Amino acid sequence: MSTVIRNATTDDLQYIVAIYNDIIKNTFAVWSEKTVDIDNRRVWMENRQEAGYPILVAILNSEVIGYGSFGPFSSSIHDTFTNHGLRHTVELTVHIDRNHRRKGIGRALVQALIDEAKKQPNIHVLVAGIAAVNTASISLFESFGFKIVAKMPETGLKHGKWLDDVLMQKIL
Ligand SMILES: CC(C)(COP(=O)(O)OP(=O)(O)OC[C@H]1O[C@@H](n2cnc3c(N)ncnc32)[C@H](O)[C@@H]1OP(=O)(O)O)[C@@H](O)C(=O)NCCC(=O)NCCS
Repeated sequence: MSTVIRNATTDDLQYIVAIYNDIIKNTFAVWSEKTVDIDNRRVWMENRQEAGYPILVAILNSEVIGYGSFGPFSSSIHDTFTNHGLRHTVELTVHIDRNHRRKGIGRALVQALIDEAKKQPNIHVLVAGIAAVNTASISLFESFGFKIVAKMPETGLKHGKWLDDVLMQKIL
């Protein structure tokens, strides 16, 4: 059966939480060491969808095997000043279930997010903030024409390790 990409619903939250918590615990992709519960992701989903940002899920055999989204590049600025100049820039994230990586799902989700962004005329720049150690993700975004525009040494700390942040961007 082939993978289908569609908009996320609250029925998908259990899978989103499982994928996200595994990535929190076992990777440097999310710079948090605190796992989340369904209510946490429900609020995230409501905020994103109410603001018109997409959350897309990849479905295989009725299960979510990955998801991706974009939202404000700097949430604190967006929350405070709705007309801030950064509102035309969004930040993408993609997370794939550990058992379904390297099967083209990440690529399909990034493509779908770019297609969504192009439908929103107010969006001009796409950003991906990636830990420098996450070479898989850097390669993925490079394959879509994202360029590395900044490397910020030791801006993150996780599992006792200082992490460098790589900012990549693509102008639509
Ligand atoms: C990074 C991630 C999203 C890639 O998703 P994926 O479905 O495994 O990737 P795909 O199979 O679509 O691969 C697309 C491209 O990504 C790159 N890539 C993916 N996995 C890679 C790996 N392990 N090593 C090197 N490059 C890799 C390659 O360029 C690949 O193209 P190729 O297959 O032609 O070589 C996935 O590994 C993941 O969810 N990791 C944990 C969370 C994370 O890092 N999220 C990204 C933060 S924004």
